[in-house]
Amino acid sequence: MPVLGIESTAHTASVGIVAEGPEVLSNASDMHRPKAGGIHPREAANHHVEVLPGLVRQALDRAHLRPAEIEAVAFSQGPGLGPCLRAGATVARTLSLLWERPLVPVNHCVAHVEIARALSGLDDALLLYASGGNTQVIAHGSGRYRVLGETLDVGIGNFLDKLWIALGGSFPGGPEIEREARQGSELLPLPYSVHGMDVAFSGMLTAGLALAAKGAARPDLAYSVEVTAYGMLTEIAERALAHRGQGAVVLGGGVACNGRLREMVRAMAEARGTSSFAPPASLCVDNGAMIAWTGLLAHRAGLRIAVEDSAVLPRQRTDQVELPWRS
Ligand code: ATP
Ligand code: FE2
Repeated sequence: MPVLGIESTAHTASVGIVAEGPEVLSNASDMHRPKAGGIHPREAANHHVEVLPGLVRQALDRAHLRPAEIEAVAFSQGPGLGPCLRAGATVARTLSLLWERPLVPVNHCVAHVEIARALSGLDDALLLYASGGNTQVIAHGSGRYRVLGETLDVGIGNFLDKLWIALGGSFPGGPEIEREARQGSELLPLPYSVHGMDVAFSGMLTAGLALAAKGAARPDLAYSVEVTAYGMLTEIAERALAHRGQGAVVLGGGVACNGRLREMVRAMAEARGTSSFAPPASLCVDNGAMIAWTGLLAHRAGLRIAVEDSAVLPRQRTDQVELPWRS
């Protein structure tokens, strides 16, 4: 039977229903877009509380399913913004009790990785997870995802969003920077910050704002930020590939929607005699289907949680989670 999954870690509330395969039966989302500036956790949580009941109905309708046909209810337990996580968890607990279905906790980062891995069909690939709050190069080892490299400060998406809002754009910045960058041609000097398999972005944020203050054209700045930041990600993925000596690269997370990043990683992988894969955009950004799919894997491996033990975990890391379905 299919599993229903609820996503609510940050800006997006989403409910997905997924069957074996993965076959995505529905994936109903509603993103909170602040009128100005970045995300305020309480405002985003209020948004999620308002839209989630309707999204549950939409997801069931689009999948042509009744609650009795749902195997389990999965939810993002962490990491994320506390108030946002609690909004989704409350809806998940309610459905679990009402429908008498098991409640299954899912780590949001693992879900980004699992949906991408399943769609790629590549069992032991290296994973490049690039999203709002996270930037990690990941490989599986002994029942867990191991973080080989990651950002030392902010996630790449948060860096892009912050820069873009400071330049007068709106949230989310990543897709708008991608559009603007198509008009740019001059490569401006920005800090290229790779430390082993780790990266850092705050220096590029400061330097980007300084260039803008000196009158750099926004398309050139967007182009330069993309080339530099995605070059950094491609380099750490290549370092990890070289270290492992084998395997393809699978991209996941919202920033993996980006055409330039996809192309840079594809070219790097091809030059090393391997390949890369990225899911369709709707399954890269935050979505309920990835939670449902990971919930399905977890539930089939015997994982479930009692309502009284289902507190959210805003700081849970990718590498803290056991993966009984992968052992
Ligand atoms: P995390 O998964 O770390 O908790 P998140 O859930 O906030 O972060 P996602 O929904 O996975 O993030 O990704 C959102 C991010 O993806 C935003 O920062 C947004 O700017 C970025 N993004 C979306 N589309 C693109 C694109 N085409 N190019 C670059 N960045 C993009
Ligand atoms: Fe995410």
